[in-house]
Amino acid sequence: MNKVIAIYPGSFDPPTNGHLDLIARGSKIFDELVVAILRNPEKNPLFSLAERRVMLDALTADFTNVRVDTFDGLTVDYATQVGASAVLRGIRALSDYEYELQMALMNRKLRPELETVFMMPANQYSYLSSHLVREIAHLGGSIKGLVPEMVEERLREKIEAEKIDAVLKK
Ligand code: PNS
Repeated sequence: MNKVIAIYPGSFDPPTNGHLDLIARGSKIFDELVVAILRNPEKNPLFSLAERRVMLDALTADFTNVRVDTFDGLTVDYATQVGASAVLRGIRALSDYEYELQMALMNRKLRPELETVFMMPANQYSYLSSHLVREIAHLGGSIKGLVPEMVEERLREKIEAEKIDAVLKK
């Protein structure tokens, strides 16, 4: 039987425990899962592409059927390039649904044979997003339990560096 390859595309800025929960779930149902970080020059990411890749490589090292890659252009084109037949996306709350449905249906219009598979992360991550993690970290709140320790550490370093930069620019 053919291997079922799925891609899990996203910004992962930074990777959260919600992302890792979904990667763990996806790795159980797909033969191969490619975590695909979007190279998006329009967004102004906190972490560079290389930093996100290094973090995700380390965080997924224990999953034998998961690998990390970067891509640009259309998700459907990247999926074809790596031989994927499915796109994995997480749905946390009803509020995600509209945007996710729009993307899934547009991707289906572009590439009808590519299926989008939605999975729900564990309940404790249903309110978690990279955007909120960045905001809380910048404002000095605790992000313990929301991101892996390695990401917590990198965030702390990044924010310290930004503060030093701001002082030097004054
Ligand atoms: O983590 P995000 O930011 O919610 O991920 C969004 C992502 C990367 C899945 C989406 O922006 C995407 O697929 N971008 C690639 C360009 C593309 O294919 N656009 C058309 C989507 S219908």
